[in-house]
Amino acid sequence: MKILFVAGGRPNFMKVAPVWHAMEKYKDIKKILVHTGQHYDVEMSDVFFRDLALPQPNVNLGVGSGSHGEQTGLILMRLEKVLQEEKPDLVLVFGDMNSTLAGSLASVKLRIPVAHVQAGWRARDNRMPEEINRSIVDRIADIHFPETYEDCLNLYHEGISPDRIFMVGNVMIDSLLSHIKLAKKRSRILTDLNLKKNEYVIVTAHRPENVDNIKGLTNIVDALCKISKNITVVYPIHPRTKKRLKRFNLLDKLKNCKNIRAIKPVGYIDFLKLLYNSRFALTDSGAVQEEGITLGIPCLTMRQNTELYKSIERGTNILVGVDSKNIVEYAMRLLNDKKFYQKIKRRKSPYPYWDGTAGEQIAKIVYNLWKNKNLKEKPSNFIENGYPVYLVMENMRTVMYKSIKKALPPNIKIVEVFDTNGNMVALDSNTKIEKGYKIKFFGGKDSMESLSHIM
Ligand code: UD1
Ligand code: UDP
Repeated sequence: MKILFVAGGRPNFMKVAPVWHAMEKYKDIKKILVHTGQHYDVEMSDVFFRDLALPQPNVNLGVGSGSHGEQTGLILMRLEKVLQEEKPDLVLVFGDMNSTLAGSLASVKLRIPVAHVQAGWRARDNRMPEEINRSIVDRIADIHFPETYEDCLNLYHEGISPDRIFMVGNVMIDSLLSHIKLAKKRSRILTDLNLKKNEYVIVTAHRPENVDNIKGLTNIVDALCKISKNITVVYPIHPRTKKRLKRFNLLDKLKNCKNIRAIKPVGYIDFLKLLYNSRFALTDSGAVQEEGITLGIPCLTMRQNTELYKSIERGTNILVGVDSKNIVEYAMRLLNDKKFYQKIKRRKSPYPYWDGTAGEQIAKIVYNLWKNKNLKEKPSNFIENGYPVYLVMENMRTVMYKSIKKALPPNIKIVEVFDTNGNMVALDSNTKIEKGYKIKFFGGKDSMESLSHIM
């Protein structure tokens, strides 16, 4: 089997690595790595190949920066040629970059199956270009690898067939867990920057909705300056933000704040070391929230919303928006209110199943789907008179989800299950379907009649 990986930039590489390495042991999988070139600075790209032990890409499409249309269009055009030459059995795309969208679109148009890693992530905010990318990718992908049960539900709600959804956990956290020891041991970044554990906060900010307008970016700079009067602020600046800081004449202001270390983006190992030893993180990055939550580093998220709903409920992650006053208020509380800080530190991650095995699970699932000739989603047969056929039935006895699935005729699928309060139930093979739960089925009219025997 030939699998082509599409990666575009910084947050993709940490997601690619665990799957890439897990596939090494499958001797009949041939892997091809295509770098779109969306990120190209050494510190946004090359360093991660070294830190994550990834081989040099087989192909670099060299698309570089540009408007969304230019970037996405160039990748589409250039990747199409590679796909036509390589004819992979499967294309793997990761996250929600423009490279992810273009990678999946180019492939499905050539009828090449696509698997999306980090499927179902939703902030329900189309102001974010990533939300548009990921929603479209999920709509057209054949195989979905969400990282949380909430994301599975997002996919169900959007009409993705449960058969094509495989909850595997979080590949980003695979990378974190397999590199954190190395980071603690090998990284010299604390010494190089003359920093001590717990005596600084780590900051990242690069979302266009925060940094592309003068008001948002001024708010962030003002907040950082105020916080830096109380604790050192370490800020590896994303190139997008650097450009905007210069354009809005804010870079000097930032650098002139006494205790701010405005530095270039750092490599993965160094970043993990910085994050792990920080008092707390202030960020608008998706992955940094996940890493903070997992390492027990309190996280103040400079956004109005997040895809990581459970982390907000649990309180390990706090949404502070980009209002400077609010950011400073929460930062001060974390710095000065020991009880508050310890309470947050002690809270466990709401994602205990992010256990470092997502990459291995993906490799195994993909391999088995290939063996069973089931990589491509089959066109639905469940159309009668031009309409899909649904049936909702009440379950008459408590039974395991896997038993119902096993007993179903092949031409009927379970779409959703609701508990007795009408809430949707997240499904995996160990889910118990209690008496009184309602099950929504999808299938042909004739075969639906056989259901009464199962329930
Ligand atoms: C992209 C992703 C975003 C992800 C982020 C991670 C999209 C729509 N967004 O945003 O989801 O969180 O990467 O970092 O794909 N630039 C450089 N050097 C580089 C790369 C970029 O100078 O190596 C500068 C260019 O001026 C460019 C700007 O950064 O115009 C933005 O880069 P781009 O790749 O368009 O989007 P990101 O903001 O990086
Ligand atoms: N990261 C890094 N160096 C930095 C900042 C972040 O290696 O200077 C890592 C971080 O550990 C995480 C990933 O980059 O794994 C996050 O990428 P980014 O914030 O660019 O993307 P997002 O997750 O927001 O899409």
